[in-house]
Amino acid sequence: MGEADMREAEGHSGSTSHSNGFSSSPSARILTLAILFQMAQTYGPVFSLYMAETHMVFVNGFSSVKEVLVTKGTQFAGRPIVPVIDYITNMKGIILTHYGQEWKEQRKFALSVLRNLGLGKRSMEERILEEATYLIQAFKENASVPFDPYDVLDSAVTNIISTLVFGKRFEYEDGSFRNILELIHQGAKLIISPWSMLFNTVPFVRRLPLPHQMIFKRAEKLFAFYAREVEEHKATHVCGQPRDFIDRYLEEMRKPENKGLGFEDSTLLVAVSDLFVAGSETTARTLQWALLYMVAFPEIQEKCQKEIDTFLGENTCLKYEDREKLPFTNAVIHEIQRFSNVLPLGVVHAPIKDVQFHGYTIPKGTMVFTNLVSVHHDKTQWKYPCEFNPSNFLNDEGDFLKPEAFMPFSAGPRMCLGENLARMELFLFFTSILRSFQVFWPDQSKAPDLTPNFGLTQFPNHFKVALKCRQQT
Ligand code: HEM
Repeated sequence: MGEADMREAEGHSGSTSHSNGFSSSPSARILTLAILFQMAQTYGPVFSLYMAETHMVFVNGFSSVKEVLVTKGTQFAGRPIVPVIDYITNMKGIILTHYGQEWKEQRKFALSVLRNLGLGKRSMEERILEEATYLIQAFKENASVPFDPYDVLDSAVTNIISTLVFGKRFEYEDGSFRNILELIHQGAKLIISPWSMLFNTVPFVRRLPLPHQMIFKRAEKLFAFYAREVEEHKATHVCGQPRDFIDRYLEEMRKPENKGLGFEDSTLLVAVSDLFVAGSETTARTLQWALLYMVAFPEIQEKCQKEIDTFLGENTCLKYEDREKLPFTNAVIHEIQRFSNVLPLGVVHAPIKDVQFHGYTIPKGTMVFTNLVSVHHDKTQWKYPCEFNPSNFLNDEGDFLKPEAFMPFSAGPRMCLGENLARMELFLFFTSILRSFQVFWPDQSKAPDLTPNFGLTQFPNHFKVALKCRQQT
């Protein structure tokens, strides 16, 4: 926003709505949700601040966030240029691509592959259920002593993306798989590190041999791994018989009508990376929170298990459509998502041209963050905004209902394209775990710590759980 526009904004809101201690030193003060909430209290639902030269607008509360994502969804459907990401992806792929024809085509294609989840002969539901058996087996192997469930959850969830994209799963102990998981996690951390911010804001440091080069080294390794998979697919793919996302993409690349729509090798690699980045940690963190809430609220766990036992019995094979029979369990899964806010600020948006919003002029390309936590705690929208309570998703008769303010997957034209897959995974993995185990907090000397760590994703501190088998599966 230019100076004139900022003055206009301040004049309108009657407040000094930017900077406040973030002016020149990005690492001097860490932006936390608590600070964002405080600022929203002081400055209202829309305020902005500067991180060095970067101008950021924050939008808070259900009605304003909905206005950005839905009512003015197309006007805000762009992505800003983030130099560190631009350097890696060249703004290709799906997640951080600018709004335009190429993004629309890439998104439409990825959605069609996801919708058509029955790639090959087996449906995605069958694949998730098969992966659930490996997950349960891995839990059983760890059941003798308290263990940290995160790696197993992460492996199971990443295997679903791998099945979709590469057509194969990996053993949880496979060294190359663990390497890939590690590279994805480190990448997510480094992207929001002070070194990355320095790269984004101070152009002359970009070529210097400083720690930000680690980000690019790791990205190179990941992309080399994806490229090997693509080459293997090129060598073995039979035209007309696609096995997975890569095969389908290779077929799209050959279609003359797709010329100029970005269907090329470099975009394929970024699209593959996007699916892994977007689809693994988000879902794995949600399941990690799920187990933490279940040990923190054993009475809720028990109520889910009673419902599952009553309506599914011991021998019935679990299906995704069973969520209709399990309103309480379904409500618990939604409450876990509402309360854990794994992507607290969603993914950054940007206006595709200058836009008027709440009396401000927000210039094209400005970073706009939608505070999804503020939506999920909006007192005007929830029965119990600040407590973990599945009744937020139940009516007086105990039927499941989903308030409009539930938006962990965001909303509007840019909303998560993996929502259906993620919801299927959450239900099938969560229900399989609770069917098979009673999950406890092993340490009687202290209570579970539900404090989130705030970053690109919100996650709990590592914790261990104890398991007791409930039935033979
Ligand atoms: C619990 C799991 C998940 C959560 C909470 C989640 C949440 C989100 C959110 C908040 C966004 C940002 C939307 C916006 O810009 O307003 C997003 C975008 C996206 N998600 Fe997810 N997601 C999850 C799982 C997945 C999965 C499993 C996949 C892929 C298979 C996926 C693929 C994507 C992609 C490609 C985008 C970018 C869409 C675009 O820019 O057009 N996500 N997700």
